[in-house]
Amino acid sequence: MASSKTPQETQIPTHIGIIMDGNGRWAQKRGQLRTQGHLEGLKTAREIVRAASDLGIKYLTLYAFSTENWKRAAEEVNFILGLVKQYLIAEFDFFKQYKIKLRHTGDEETLPEDILSEIKTVIAETSNFEGLSVILALNYGGRDEITRAVKRILREGKTESEIDEKLLHSFLDNPDVPDPDLIIRTAGEFRTSNFLIWEAAYAEYVISNTLWPDWTGKDLKDAILEYQQRDRRFGGIKS
Ligand code: FPP
Repeated sequence: MASSKTPQETQIPTHIGIIMDGNGRWAQKRGQLRTQGHLEGLKTAREIVRAASDLGIKYLTLYAFSTENWKRAAEEVNFILGLVKQYLIAEFDFFKQYKIKLRHTGDEETLPEDILSEIKTVIAETSNFEGLSVILALNYGGRDEITRAVKRILREGKTESEIDEKLLHSFLDNPDVPDPDLIIRTAGEFRTSNFLIWEAAYAEYVISNTLWPDWTGKDLKDAILEYQQRDRRFGGIKS
């Protein structure tokens, strides 16, 4: 990966999604509990939100908890969800200062009430801000998002002739958010893990071997530099 360079301002990705992986391995390597890895992971999330805001990125989607993560031990699940709540409370002043707007993607219906209520409060309080939009993917699965969209389409009585990609897209969780340009996955795995599978159809993927708790703003810059070297054709050919 490139180093000590600054990404070109003209090609900063509008929307970055991050699969924050490797918290468990980070803790295991140190003989600590997995929860300690998530605690460190939260500190990294704070730093990366700040770095993304400083770089002028417009949308940052963070994969904090998937629809499949409920399979983990109840203790770990409760810890992660508790961390998210703590994050929203602790960062509120920072969001206000940097005009950061919070949004959510994921299934609201099966989220614990206290967390959903905190998310809704922060979303309402930051809705007029025009800085970075932080989209918290919480209780999120790409297949689940599409399934929920299809249910809403049926509920609205849409007919077969009305259904096309544009219509389906308009029933997703955040239809006004542009598709991600760049998806970053930390901790070296080459998998999408059900993250933004509709939206990321033409995203560039950058895999970083560094575990999420060790990630820094410099890693974000390096990932953007790697993205800036890609030739995006969206299925077409180079002009
Ligand atoms: C993946 O690592 C990480 C998670 C499932 C949780 C991510 C949550 C946080 C970083 C805290 C909350 C974040 C925000 C933005 C409020 P893993 O446990 O799968 O790691 P492993 O693959 O090494 O086991």
